[in-house]
Amino acid sequence: MQKAIIIGATSGLGKGLARRLADEDYNVGITGRRTELLDELRSENPNLFYAQTFDITDINKIVEKLEILTSQLGGLDLLIICSGIGDQNEELNYEIEKRTIETNVIGFTCVANWAFNYFENQKNGHLVAISSVGGLRGNRITPSYNATKAYQINYLEGLRQKANKIKSQIFVTDVRPGFVATAMAKGKGLF
Ligand SMILES: NC(=O)c1ccc[n+]([C@@H]2O[C@H](COP(=O)([O-])OP(=O)(O)OC[C@H]3O[C@@H](n4cnc5c(N)ncnc54)[C@H](OP(=O)(O)O)[C@@H]3O)[C@@H](O)[C@H]2O)c1
Repeated sequence: MQKAIIIGATSGLGKGLARRLADEDYNVGITGRRTELLDELRSENPNLFYAQTFDITDINKIVEKLEILTSQLGGLDLLIICSGIGDQNEELNYEIEKRTIETNVIGFTCVANWAFNYFENQKNGHLVAISSVGGLRGNRITPSYNATKAYQINYLEGLRQKANKIKSQIFVTDVRPGFVATAMAKGKGLF
């Protein structure tokens, strides 16, 4: 049985992917900050879903939580990073920029590092992250969001090169969606 962890499975793309993997009989570790939403999802299929609540900006907890989840799953084949925030910030409020960087860069990097090292150690695995087509250009309304997505795109390319260089069976996939109708897609007339 394949084992996957989804970071940010309480809503949107992560929740949809968690359900999809469970339909394909994966054991799925689900994470996010909102325990009640994780419990709700877990109750849909308690035999396949395992939950750990944590905030990816709390970098001192991430490794411990991922290790607990991996041991509950009985191993790990696939880790998908779906967590992310992106607030409109026309006033250039630094607190918004900082939170975005802490989530989409610092937390993201900590999870991606752990996953890559885990897969390198076991000599196979698949790391997936949802970046964004927004990472290809700057944006005046969401400057830190687009900049953090550019970082993710570039960072994943680096990890892909690293996997190639060590001739491993590690795969790194960067998914760059356009607008998807989730809580994240703010603004009028997007769809
Ligand atoms: N929707 C779009 O139009 C779109 C387009 C391109 C790319 N994307 C990317 O797709 C990814 C998923 O977004 P979505 O559209 O599915 O949005 P969403 O419904 O808002 O989901 C975001 C997920 O990230 C988790 N999360 C946010 N901050 C977190 C933190 N500090 N610690 C742990 N988990 C955190 C949330 O869980 P909790 O709140 O429970 O912590 C939630 O499960 C994001 O990286 C986003 O940038 C989205």
